[in-house]
Order: sequence, then C-alpha cells, then structure tokens
Amino acid sequence: MTKKLFIKTYGCQMNVYDSARMAELLAPIGYEVVETAEGADLAILNTCHIRERAAEKVFSDIGRLREHQEQKVRSGGRMLLAVAGCVAQAEGEEIRRRARNVDIIVGPQSYHRLPELIARASRTAGVALDTTFPADSKFDHLPGERTAAGPTAFLTVQEGCDKFCTFCVVPYTRGAEHSRPVAEILTEASRLAESGVREITVLGQNVNAYHGSDETGGTLSLGALLRCLAEIPGVARLRYTTSHPLDMHDELIAAHREVPAVMPFLHLPVQSGSDRILAAMNRRHDVDTYRRVVDRLRRARPDVALSSDFIVGYPGETRADFTATLDLVREIGFAQAFSFKFSPRPGTPAAALGDPVAEPEKLARLYELQELLNSQQREFNRAMVGRRLPVLLEAPGRHPGQLVGRSPYLQAVHLDAPRDKIGTVVEAVIVAEAPNSLVGRLADTAGRAAAA
Ligand code: SAH
Ligand code: SF4
Ligand code: F3S
Repeated sequence: MTKKLFIKTYGCQMNVYDSARMAELLAPIGYEVVETAEGADLAILNTCHIRERAAEKVFSDIGRLREHQEQKVRSGGRMLLAVAGCVAQAEGEEIRRRARNVDIIVGPQSYHRLPELIARASRTAGVALDTTFPADSKFDHLPGERTAAGPTAFLTVQEGCDKFCTFCVVPYTRGAEHSRPVAEILTEASRLAESGVREITVLGQNVNAYHGSDETGGTLSLGALLRCLAEIPGVARLRYTTSHPLDMHDELIAAHREVPAVMPFLHLPVQSGSDRILAAMNRRHDVDTYRRVVDRLRRARPDVALSSDFIVGYPGETRADFTATLDLVREIGFAQAFSFKFSPRPGTPAAALGDPVAEPEKLARLYELQELLNSQQREFNRAMVGRRLPVLLEAPGRHPGQLVGRSPYLQAVHLDAPRDKIGTVVEAVIVAEAPNSLVGRLADTAGRAAAA
C-alpha cells in the first residue's frame, strides 16, 4: 500500500540533499513522493532559519497545510505534518506552541529517525520531537542506495560549522563541524555514477574545511577527496560549495589546476569589502586575504569564475564601509553573486547589536550592490557569445527539440539536440545571451555536423 509523501524544501543545497535522503529513507516503508500537498499522507517542510523571512514563511506554510489536513480527515484519512531542517532545530518548542497541527519536529542531524517518529505520531496525538545531535552519524542509518533524479547530484561530505560568524545561525542549527569518512563518500558517489550521474556537487556548510578519515587512519583534505572522486568511472564534473576563504588550502587550489573534472567556478563568499566589518562579523580574514586567495586561484586556473555572498547593512556599516564593498566587487569581478540585507537572528551574537542601519538605507545599498553585480553577470555572460563551451545536458528545454544544460561556469545553456544526448557533455558554440542563461548550438566535432 503506497502512501503519498509531499516534501517542500527551503534554503540551501544541503537541505535539497537532505530532502532527497528523506525520500529515499521513507520509500521502503511505502512512501512515494508527490508534487502537491493535496491528499498527502505525510507532508514534510524542510526548513531554513538563515534569515527572518525564510523562517517566517514556514509558519505561514504550516497554517496553509492545515486546510489540506482537514480535507484529508473529511475523506477518512490523516495527513501527518513534519517540520524538519533548521527552523525545527532552532525553534522546535516555538513550533510546538504556535502550531498545533504539527505532528513531528525533527532536526537536520536526526532525520534518520523519521520512520520511528512517524510511527509514534501515527499512534498518538501530540508532537513527536527529535532535535538532538545524536552521537552516531545519521549517514550510518540512511539507505546505501541513491536514486538519481538526473545527470547531476548533490553529495554532502561535511556538515556543521565551527566558524561562528556573528550573524549566522548555522553553527547552532547544524552543530559542530563534522566530515564524513572518505570510503563512505566514495561508495555513495560510485552509486550515483552507476545510476547515471555525471556531475557531483560536493556539499558542506564549510566544505573546504573537509578533513575526512581514510582507511589508513589518516585524513584527506577536500583537494585530495576531489582527486579520488574524479577517478570514479562516469564522473565527468565536480563542484563544491560552500567554501570559506580561510580554508582554501594549497591542495585544493592544486586540484583546480590539475584535475580536469573540477569545474573552473567557485562560490567563495566574502560578505563585505570592509576590514572593519569583516572583523566585526568575526569572519577571521581581511580583504587582502580574500584578494590573495583569488590571486592564487587565478594563477592555478586562469579561467576560473567567481561567485560570492554579500551582506549589506550589518550593524555599524557606514557608507564608507559599503563603498569598500563596491570597490572590492569592481576589483574582483564576479560571474554571479547573492546579496542580502542583514537580518538579526535570535541567539547569534550580532542580534545583540540590534538592527541600527535604517531599512531604507539598507534597501538602497542592496539595490546599488545588486545593480553592480547584475551588470557584472551580464558582462560575463556576454563574453561567452562566440565561444565554444562544454555543456552537460541535463533535461528537456521549454521548446520541443530543445535541451537545457550547464556550462562549466554553471550558466544554463539552451540548445537544440536529440533527447538521447541528456547526460552527455557536448561542445556548444554560444550564439546569444540573456541575463540568466545562454543560447548555444551544437558545435561541429571533427569537422562534421554533430547535430545530425
Ligand atoms: N557557509 C557559508 C554561508 C552559509 S549561509 C559561508 O561561510 O559563507 C549563506 C549566506 O547567507 C551567507 O554567506 C550570508 O551572506 C547570508 N547570511 C547568513 N546569515 C545572514 C543574516 N543573519 N542576515 C543576512 N544574510 C545572512
Ligand atoms: Fe555561517 Fe560563517 Fe559558518 Fe558560513 S562560515 S556557515 S557564514 S558561521
Ligand atoms: Fe538555511 Fe540551514 Fe541551509 S539555515 S541555509 S537550511 S544550513
């Protein structure tokens, strides 16, 4: 008897990975993923606590799901509602108090216990809650099999964070830094490759701090791990995210130079271009350190493109600090970036500073920064026109005959190609650009038309 499972995922790629693992965990006990909450037997909200808006959305979604739960009762069934992820971890008690229709609250380190929590919630009324950081790794309890949804996949190799940036909830919601053992990762990656995955994005809140144990009793850095992953038959491309500037070790930089599978694109958040603000944020590095990391990378891999995260309006950020951020953006040049207004988060050191930069000022800074970043992104995309790029084809495009894939720089590329090319890397000539994507055509290979 199959049961319907609806999962809504908020936040970062690690949550996307966790949602996929929850679905795999629940499949053997009869749950099949469906696209809408209507009629579901179990709805999971896999939540994000990073900014206030993200967390508040969860409470409104919980409210909306109540109607579906009532409908389900009218048709003689029951829809269990589970809140997972970082809001569950940080605000478990608050959810229990505010949202009576929630049956299960489970943190990011204990979701392997979902089958047990579901059983408990089905038997009784009241909330089944587990927001512990169990000593045994959840990975030991998740199924060995991975079901790939397409030619690209995420693979979490590191979790948690010990950096404690003053604004950030991650060290509290995900706990202390922990690296998965090398063998476990290689097994998971091999299974993914066997099921058709060509590109693996290795994930961690602080992925380049990775130091997993290997079978000799030693530890491997992320650079060394990427080399091992590149050896797996079928793995054509490797990416990793998110990195901290302080953990860009030589071995990792060398992997960019020497391992062709490592894509020349790096998300390397800097947050601010002001030394004063970086210090206040406890980022543990200054602007010049960031600059030097970028230099080392570019020397190793001259075509590397960069992406970043920025926070504007951090408490005490002056116009001069903000201008320093704009200057740094102009100096480095980003292919793409995310920028956010500072959001005070409960329990973080920065929350004690209030939110002194006035909202209109924060908004004005955000717009100014985004305008600059967007123009750089546009410029970067424009420079691709006329170039030949390898594109990993991932899925059917919007128009008949069209497929969509990704360039090495993570740009979406639309081109006409036969469907059986999905999952292969093709050479494409870029013929046009749009703000968020490129248009290409299959390049002639070895002097003959590849489109035939
Ligand atoms: N581990 C990553 C980032 C994780 S959170 C790193 O070290 O950079 C993703 C991004 O959200 C951060 O880079 C930051 O730009 C933003 N962010 C985190 N906390 C925030 C807050 N309180 N207000 C606004 N933006 C925030
Ligand atoms: Fe948060 Fe800083 Fe850790 Fe990134 S490095 S997860 S911003 S505390
Ligand atoms: Fe959000 Fe948690 Fe990821 S707070 S960004 S889902 S680690």
